[in-house]
Amino acid sequence: MIINQDARRKILPIASGKGGVGKSVLVANLGISLASFGQRTVLVDLDLGGSNLHTYLGMKNRNLGIGNFVSDKSVTFQDIRVRSPYPNLDFVPGDVLVTGTANLTHAQKRSVISNIERIDADYILLDLGSGSHFTTLDFFLMSNSGLLVTTPQAPAILNAYGFLKNVVFRLIQQSLSSHKAATKYLTDVVRDKQPNSTPGIAQILERVEKISKRAAAEVRAELAKLRPSIVVSMGDRPEDMEIVQSLRTLIETKLEVEPMCLGFLYFDYIVREAVGDTVPLALVGRDSLILKEIDRIAQKIVHSERFPDMPLDTSEYEDSFGLATIEAEDDYAEINPHPHTRVEQTPDQATAEEFIRLISAQKQQIKELQGTIHALTIGGGRRE
Ligand SMILES: Nc1ncnc2c1ncn2[C@@H]1O[C@H](COP(=O)(O)OP(=O)(O)OP(=O)(O)O)[C@@H](O)[C@H]1O
Ligand SMILES: [Mg+2]
Repeated sequence: MIINQDARRKILPIASGKGGVGKSVLVANLGISLASFGQRTVLVDLDLGGSNLHTYLGMKNRNLGIGNFVSDKSVTFQDIRVRSPYPNLDFVPGDVLVTGTANLTHAQKRSVISNIERIDADYILLDLGSGSHFTTLDFFLMSNSGLLVTTPQAPAILNAYGFLKNVVFRLIQQSLSSHKAATKYLTDVVRDKQPNSTPGIAQILERVEKISKRAAAEVRAELAKLRPSIVVSMGDRPEDMEIVQSLRTLIETKLEVEPMCLGFLYFDYIVREAVGDTVPLALVGRDSLILKEIDRIAQKIVHSERFPDMPLDTSEYEDSFGLATIEAEDDYAEINPHPHTRVEQTPDQATAEEFIRLISAQKQQIKELQGTIHALTIGGGRRE
């Protein structure tokens, strides 16, 4: 695992628990933005089986990619790194030209990881497949500070939590690999898994501590390095940050990990238009809010030499979540009269009936999430 704070080349894996939340849109446009700030950037499409990052860059799917690299020994990693239409931005395609590479063997995965670790660039962004497949977890754990994208809807929030829980479990597994007794305990935890009976991270650590104090100390040290950043996508209103704060609390209390929040992106129809026409957002939405929001994320990254450590002005706000909330509020004020945003559809345009349905659906979602958080933190007792 690369510790991005100390690394000259920063690897930023971008993941989500739920599919279709806007990862690839973010990867493509964050890459374009970082490159426009003069940072040598490489985007790698690691969504094997679902590679489509090229479309968001306005590129045709005719270049060799990871699929060719893993299935043809004569193809080197250098062969599959191609120039994008943007200065400073290179691209490593996924597996659109080769079928059947979604399930990499252990050796193929190791080879892909070690080649990515050797890419010469300032920033290496990895577009991951959604969900908690082991390969995805290992790609996410290539650095200590990946980005986790979620919409503010309850199912996506819960899947984001579930994804991070799997990441933490995988990290514990990896750091205990040389401790036989502790590894056996973890294997038993997985094998004996009953619905709703997997022990929580705190319980696992307690048990590991009983088996070996040294092993537990090593695991805790590894966990302390983990600094994921949340990016909220397709938000509707600043109040969406409340559910994100619930996610943060859940991560802090149940996973013993401290997440950051890198930014809040509003739902913007311009994204759909660009995707529909397979043109990069940077071309059609030059003055759009979404590009400003993504630029802001790029600036936070570039201006934090020791990213994810950010030089935050905490006299103005509490922390990165407070900053994202203020930004979401400022943007909301700006986009109300904006023609491309859904928030403009107040009862004037949508019928009052639709508006009421929307509000009650959201209330229901918040209620469901509260119920789940309650079950996870209190109702479920010590069992998660
Ligand atoms: N901020 C946004 N506003 C409006 N629509 C968006 C926004 N971000 C993404 N979308 C839409 O959501 C769809 C899914 O986005 P995207 O492909 O980036 O998601 P993903 O998380 O990469 O999905 P997958 O898990 O399938 O790889 C896109 O077609 C795009 O039109
Ligand atoms: Mg994608």
